Amino acid sequence: MNTNSDSQKKDGVRVLFPTLIYEAWYPSYETDKEKLISYVQKLKENDTEGQRISAQEYPSGYTSYFTRSNLFTDPQLADLVSFIHQCAGNFAIQHHWDTKNFEPVINALFANINPKFSNHPDHMHPYSHISGVFYVKSELDSPPLSFKDPRIGRWMMPPAADGTRAENTFHARIKAEAGKLLLFPSWLEHGVPQNTSDHERMSMSFNFEMRPMQKP
Ligand SMILES: [Fe+2]
Repeated sequence: MNTNSDSQKKDGVRVLFPTLIYEAWYPSYETDKEKLISYVQKLKENDTEGQRISAQEYPSGYTSYFTRSNLFTDPQLADLVSFIHQCAGNFAIQHHWDTKNFEPVINALFANINPKFSNHPDHMHPYSHISGVFYVKSELDSPPLSFKDPRIGRWMMPPAADGTRAENTFHARIKAEAGKLLLFPSWLEHGVPQNTSDHERMSMSFNFEMRPMQKP
């Protein structure tokens, strides 16, 4: 006969140290698409210093990271920035972080253009808690975002995987799809493989810190 305590005993699997990736779709994308694409094109055209630095630091592509990383202050992007903020808040809640006393505050938003042959080597985003990307323009054959398993001990002697789970790979790839936003922890190494397609890929990247709330 089962006692109460016996009935609470269950066989099963626990998940520890998970890495959360948040995926969301910008509801105004179809309406704002042309405006956003033209915004990024004009940004590049007017940012000659950014083009010069990109030629050295971001071969074959353009990024406003070095020159215009405060795009979150631009009123033209207010709706998108508001959506990004909302997603960052949800992501903090999903992590069970202390959202009563801390709030995600954006500290960088910059644009990137990856034409044919450009790539972005694996990297992290230091001095931030949440990082992410929004795809302004992407096609079916555009390169994905690639995440590297951060658990270095796992690389010692991995058992053969059955190939059915992204969680069980060493490099997990997520499609870059226009209008989609991805959030991930800033410590998670990621990169973009070489763009072998003839299509230009455009994105906006951003970072958030969890800062103490300003209370009256
Ligand atoms: Fe990045």
